Amino acid sequence: MGEQGGRAPRDDAAWWRGAVIYQVYVRSFADGNGDGTGDLTGVREHLEYLRDLGVDAIWFNPFYVSPLADGGYDVADYRAIDPAFGTLEQAEQVIREALALGIRTIIDIVPNHVSDQHPWFQAALAAAPGSPERARFWFRSGKGDAGEQMPTHWVSSFQGSTWTRTTNPDGTPGEWYLHLFTPEQPDLNWDHPDVRREHEDILRFWFDRGVAGVRIDSAALLVKDPSLPEVPEYPVPGAHPHVDRDELHDVYRAWRAVADSYDGSRVLVGEVWLDDAERFARYLRPDEMHTAFNFDFMARPWSAKELRDSIDMTLAAHRPVGAPATWVLSNHDVTRPVTRYGRADSSFDFGSKRFGTPTDLALGLRRARAAALLTAALPGSLYVYQGDELGLPEVEDLPADALQDPMHFRSGGVDPGRDGCRVPLPWSGSTPPFGFSPSGSTSPAWLPQPESWASLTVEAQASEPTSTLSLYRAAFALRRAEPDLGDGPMQWLDARDLGDDAVLAFRRGPRFACVVNLGPVAVDLPPHTAVLLASGELRDGRLPADTAVWLRTTPASPEFPVPSE
Ligand code: NOJ
Repeated sequence: MGEQGGRAPRDDAAWWRGAVIYQVYVRSFADGNGDGTGDLTGVREHLEYLRDLGVDAIWFNPFYVSPLADGGYDVADYRAIDPAFGTLEQAEQVIREALALGIRTIIDIVPNHVSDQHPWFQAALAAAPGSPERARFWFRSGKGDAGEQMPTHWVSSFQGSTWTRTTNPDGTPGEWYLHLFTPEQPDLNWDHPDVRREHEDILRFWFDRGVAGVRIDSAALLVKDPSLPEVPEYPVPGAHPHVDRDELHDVYRAWRAVADSYDGSRVLVGEVWLDDAERFARYLRPDEMHTAFNFDFMARPWSAKELRDSIDMTLAAHRPVGAPATWVLSNHDVTRPVTRYGRADSSFDFGSKRFGTPTDLALGLRRARAAALLTAALPGSLYVYQGDELGLPEVEDLPADALQDPMHFRSGGVDPGRDGCRVPLPWSGSTPPFGFSPSGSTSPAWLPQPESWASLTVEAQASEPTSTLSLYRAAFALRRAEPDLGDGPMQWLDARDLGDDAVLAFRRGPRFACVVNLGPVAVDLPPHTAVLLASGELRDGRLPADTAVWLRTTPASPEFPVPSE
């Protein structure tokens, strides 16, 4: 590492309530050893970059031993690092060195399923039906006279069926096993005490190594109805056979007890995809998870009404349980915001991703920059997916033979998959691999970067005051310095007073306001004493279309009151 100058981590126990958390997809962040795949050495070499960006924590996608059938969400050993990414010692080193720079580490725990190469599953395959080894998974005989029909018709989150038939040692067809994702990701049976014990032990293993929290993968899927019924057409909340079952909450209460047994706060962050905001908030009760990703906001289109509804609904759902909201514009699963917001339909939905969707990237970038200021000003914590701070678009023209994502293949090639948001970061230089790999390395990046990214490298943006990187750096520095940003209350300003209902305007405390123009024409700004930051150039003091601004305000004035909450 170069210069060591650090920043003390926010040492209050509630750091996570208003933290900026940067998501590192290790495989695509930085390649330290020149093999074309990102690794922990690459992360260590760029920790100062993250400090200078101003983040409070890193969340690492899974970096454990894995055949990478689903980008590492198929874990073969939860206590070891995949050799492609480094060693356990290097992971410990990264955790320590990041903390010395004021950055906490959150790791990804994948409890719903393991890799089919995991020793438990290998033992289960080798054992007989009805054996204790099979009891840790969902092995079942098939239906039909010869067991030739799968036990249920549950549909995989990756399309297709959720059951794969095994083969007996004598070559005859055997039992089926359940996998909500790919066949390489068999689901664990969370009714089994071994499964619960093992995961609590994995949490301790990583908390003992200094991690500050865990992101819980597919957190609402773990528990299944053991009678394995079909999914009803209109499932009653809590009665779906494999989504959001009430018994799940005991799992997270036990995890919270493990987390709370450590000094300082160790946080549980849930990946909870649920439409029902009240059911979602149940995971955030004081003895369960600390926070969960807010996907509702991320999935909404670029519309003042839609985003305001989502903000109101989110805050209302969180209030009764006392948990802070999170704000998420993207992650390694979804279309990059620059691309999404540049489309006629700017909402996000896994089912509607298609090759060849017309996109205005200049428009998308303007909106993504405005969205960055909007989300950074909202109450709660903020997640930033690597590369969003550079304004990277989705790469939509990857060569067919480079694609790796099972979502693409399981859709029969209709869904472009998630590779386009996982392309390695451009750091420097004017040709691929743009400093992703050390100079002189001959292995190409595992996914090819577009030539056009020359203007988007960290190097190109770092000294350019109007770049997206500069915008993010300025926003996070201000967020850190402004006492009313992060966790805390917000108050809407009546945007109609500003002359347009396509405007979102709110106060954070008496001296700060955020105004976002989601409409097509410029609008006047409310009274202010200074412009702190803007996502685009103001014209004659007016806020142009698709632009956000942070304002220093006077405590109150008749035209710009501080409304009561
Ligand atoms: C959610 C993860 O974010 C995604 O990448 C993964 O494919 C599934 N869970 C299955 O683990």
